[in-house]
Amino acid sequence: MTAHKPGDPTTLRRLYGRSKGHKLREGQAALVEDALPRFSVPDHGPLDAVTLFGDDRPLEFEIGFGSGEHLAGQAGMRPDHGFIGCEPFLNGVVGALNHIRDDDLANVRLHMGDALEVLERLPDASLDRLYLLHPDPWPKARHAKRRMVNPGPMDMIARKLKPGAEFRLGTDDPTYCRWSMMVMNARRDFVWQAERPADFLVRPDDWPQTRYEAKARRKGHEVWYFIYKRV
Ligand SMILES: C[S@@+](CC[C@H](N)C(=O)[O-])C[C@H]1O[C@@H](n2cnc3c(N)ncnc32)[C@H](O)[C@@H]1O
Repeated sequence: MTAHKPGDPTTLRRLYGRSKGHKLREGQAALVEDALPRFSVPDHGPLDAVTLFGDDRPLEFEIGFGSGEHLAGQAGMRPDHGFIGCEPFLNGVVGALNHIRDDDLANVRLHMGDALEVLERLPDASLDRLYLLHPDPWPKARHAKRRMVNPGPMDMIARKLKPGAEFRLGTDDPTYCRWSMMVMNARRDFVWQAERPADFLVRPDDWPQTRYEAKARRKGHEVWYFIYKRV
């Protein structure tokens, strides 16, 4: 793990885990070749709503969108917002491209890689919402620094959200749940919105279920839904 030097976002963390999965079928490879360049976040340079979508629309961001069902669901609910989704896993990107095609979405841009590399290129206070759903749990204590909910990445997330913007976190992992409550409760720049247990035990109507979450539910896991507001 690279040590974090304050003020240098490139040393926040390395991207851990795999980015290659099953070999693509012919149709999937064609989809990647044809559609990915059209829906990709540009590789270099500063980013904002105008660069990505051609107008000054509100922006939302998903870290690690998995197969893209939540990203596509949110994008379908707010066609006038722009959605940026990042996922290093190629099979996940194919999933998102399928949703973009099937739902005819014009308001999604994808990056196949580390979300923090894209996040740092956005202006500060530019996002209306950021989603982190079922982040990799890194259950061993010696890997806890790799968790996305940690001071380095959370400082960057806080900077990129507008005042009053939402940070949404979902997890079915009891260790991650306790860990993130501890990290988030120590922060003065986010306020947890829950007023009663149902607010974090029941999935809000505007929170499309991810594939990972459905699998966790089938295994009998509890799932926790956190909504924080940026102060
Ligand atoms: C447990 S999966 C959950 C996927 C999805 N959010 C869902 O709920 O179905 C965690 C995902 O985060 C992705 N991920 C891990 N580190 C990431 C990073 N730095 N930037 C973007 N995605 C990342 C992984 O590739 C993986 O797909």
